[in-house]
Amino acid sequence: MATESVDHVRIFDTTLRDGEQSPGATLTSAEKLEIARQLAQLGVDIIEAGFPAASPDDLAAVQRIAREVGTADGPVICGLARAVESDIRTCWEGVKDAAKPRIHTFLGTSDIHLQYQTGLTREQGLEVIRKSVTLARSLCEDVEFSPMDAGRTDMDYLIKACALAIECGATTINIPDTVGYVTPEEWYEKLSALIAETPGGGPGSGVIWSVHCHNDLGMATANTLAGVLAGARQAEVTINGIGERAGNTSLEEVVMALRTRPQFYHIDSGINTHEIIKTSRLVSNYTGMNVQANKAIVGKNAFAHEAGIHQDGVLKHHSTYEIMRPEDVGLSHSDLVLGKHSGRHALRARLRELGYEVTDEELAEVFRRFKDLADAKKTVTDADLEALVADQTQGPHEFFRLVDIQVTSGTMGMPTATIKLENGDGNRIVHAAVGTGPVDASFRAVDAIAQMPNTLLEYSVHSVTEGIDAVGEVTVRISPKDDPRSFGGYGADDDIIVASVRAYLAAINRMIAVTGAGGRTPEGEAATINL
Ligand code: KIV
Ligand code: ZN
Repeated sequence: MATESVDHVRIFDTTLRDGEQSPGATLTSAEKLEIARQLAQLGVDIIEAGFPAASPDDLAAVQRIAREVGTADGPVICGLARAVESDIRTCWEGVKDAAKPRIHTFLGTSDIHLQYQTGLTREQGLEVIRKSVTLARSLCEDVEFSPMDAGRTDMDYLIKACALAIECGATTINIPDTVGYVTPEEWYEKLSALIAETPGGGPGSGVIWSVHCHNDLGMATANTLAGVLAGARQAEVTINGIGERAGNTSLEEVVMALRTRPQFYHIDSGINTHEIIKTSRLVSNYTGMNVQANKAIVGKNAFAHEAGIHQDGVLKHHSTYEIMRPEDVGLSHSDLVLGKHSGRHALRARLRELGYEVTDEELAEVFRRFKDLADAKKTVTDADLEALVADQTQGPHEFFRLVDIQVTSGTMGMPTATIKLENGDGNRIVHAAVGTGPVDASFRAVDAIAQMPNTLLEYSVHSVTEGIDAVGEVTVRISPKDDPRSFGGYGADDDIIVASVRAYLAAINRMIAVTGAGGRTPEGEAATINL
């Protein structure tokens, strides 16, 4: 494979659009805004903020991101639109207030998509592309066109479709492997040929070629990098690789591959890699989608050395078994950070060093929890602190807040939980419930107060650090009754029952924020004592 000495590939982040299409990754608009702010900190060039025609809420979320994150020195804010007039006009409504707006429109061009999805002939497909790209360009100077399922599209037809989109004003041509079907070698060949042979799209034309790869065969990152080697100067990616089915190309993998192997790629992304871990955790906490421990770059084990021979080597020199430094992706390297005598200022300073700006209110609560933890645990690590902050600052919509919890369990009676919650009106409600175990009893007590019927789809616990006194992280996923959507929640505490209730409440708060239902206080119920 040949390399080229152009120095910048644009990073187009689609976490808030393709990523949010992952089953169960629904985000509230406040969470989308916060993620968009963090993506801007990370330094992405383009944020695909959503699919404005999908619903009024999606439109509103894109508009807010366009206004608040799409500043003159911020990223391009892009919206997705099917190749139909109403979608394109709604998309423009979504992005037009950004300093740098973009409309991204797409049409399936493979015979499979034409025949089975849109029922168009190839000729009719070209007519749709002509009309939609022309309309988009009449509204916005920056237009991206994607021939969906390009990986399985006949090459001659693909060239015609791309040439037409360019003729009608598209400034970026994105080539998607929608179903994750291609191999790196053929993708390289396909992209090279497309760039060379598409009329109006060659070097010097000003057209930016882009790649968008799915991970069905685990080749999304390799395919994206092959596309970059072939001349693509935009890579479409998501944080943690979330996206439809097996996901999209992961931003952190592409960025760190380019950065770690500059002599091979001769191209960089301009991403502030120190923000990678923080962004990964934010997205994981808000979507409730755990990152697998062995995931490249951002997995819990990505920089852990277990085998004695490896530990020995790294202690002698890190380069023996490390090709990247953990600090480069924003992982802290100090183990013991603060002790029980540390004050509020030291805590704020350490959080700043870790990249977290907290409000005074959040600091007060994190400080209280840090003190409890420092009393209970010999050492409080950066990882412990990050888990507490992630827990404390999540869920911009807090309808229910945990005030107190007491649980009894064991072999001598029925597991019982007494829970006190505060609702959005400031009312404090207590409820006691029994269950098959302490977590079940706690969730039942929460249910009795929150009155948000749901099914628990997933529940998982893992420890942040090693040892019996480690902080526990819990993620849950719930689905409202008679509603296919699902909502994730995250909680962290040195008591895993407390962490579980925090996670469950985060999911319930998210469910209330998105569905707009519930949040009712069950006043006057027999087993409930209002305080
Ligand atoms: O995978 C895909 O083809 C897409 C397009 C909308 C770009 O997500
Ligand atoms: Zn996609």
